[in-house]
Amino acid sequence: MNTTFPHDPADISAHEDWFAAYAQRQYARCPGDVSPLRLKRDHTFGVLAHARTIVAEDIDDPLTARACLLAALYHDVARFEQYLRYDTFRDKDSRNHGLWGSAILRHAGCLDGESPAIRRLVRAAVALHNRYALPARLPAEAARVTQVVRDADKLDILRVMDEHLSGPRPYCPTVVLGLPDDPGRVSDIVLADALAGRVAAYADLTSVNDFRVLLGTWLHDMHFSCSRRLFAASAHAVRLIAGLPSSGPYAAARACLLARLEAVRTDRPTC
Ligand SMILES: [Fe+2]
Repeated sequence: MNTTFPHDPADISAHEDWFAAYAQRQYARCPGDVSPLRLKRDHTFGVLAHARTIVAEDIDDPLTARACLLAALYHDVARFEQYLRYDTFRDKDSRNHGLWGSAILRHAGCLDGESPAIRRLVRAAVALHNRYALPARLPAEAARVTQVVRDADKLDILRVMDEHLSGPRPYCPTVVLGLPDDPGRVSDIVLADALAGRVAAYADLTSVNDFRVLLGTWLHDMHFSCSRRLFAASAHAVRLIAGLPSSGPYAAARACLLARLEAVRTDRPTC
């Protein structure tokens, strides 16, 4: 692919075309339900849109900005192979899709027209976007690009999950990571994280309701004022948390998470 940076660093249309064609080829290989792959394609362009918003407000350097947009576009490139080979999006039951995505980009050659610096930043961000925490010694520029992708990713996952969980049951096992929709299953660790203002971990989820809580705790993992504001203003976030039971073990976490969203929206301190 022959790209034209630096004429317009924000123009990644050739890459968007490459990605759309790649997704089409993966659909054609799918013998069963292709809807989870379409969901990942739509998610990718949703993440790219959020990344553009964050970059416009918080990233001044054109090279870094371009790396952010490319990393957003390619961050889930491995999801297609993951679903086709393993029939799941759970890394635990298949492979780490961040590291795998970085390897796919290396072999696919779609970044060959970019500078070595951009290639390195994009591959690093794709490899690291799904880590629970970033390596402490990650260079600042790579960390910044990865954080843009992580924030944009989370903002669009709110949409994906809200649209799915607002729809009819039963939920698609692939979308809810195989978690049971069982109100009797509660993770004390996830609830404790929510109440303490910590980001909950996928590994601690035991049910769909735990997943709703985890999504709400992502407010504490937004790295830019823009993304934090977008998260707090998201009707998807409010609906996901409000969908938790308002009595019983989830009640306190539900109230606390909703209050925190409100506090960020109105710039007031909370629990
Ligand atoms: Fe991902």
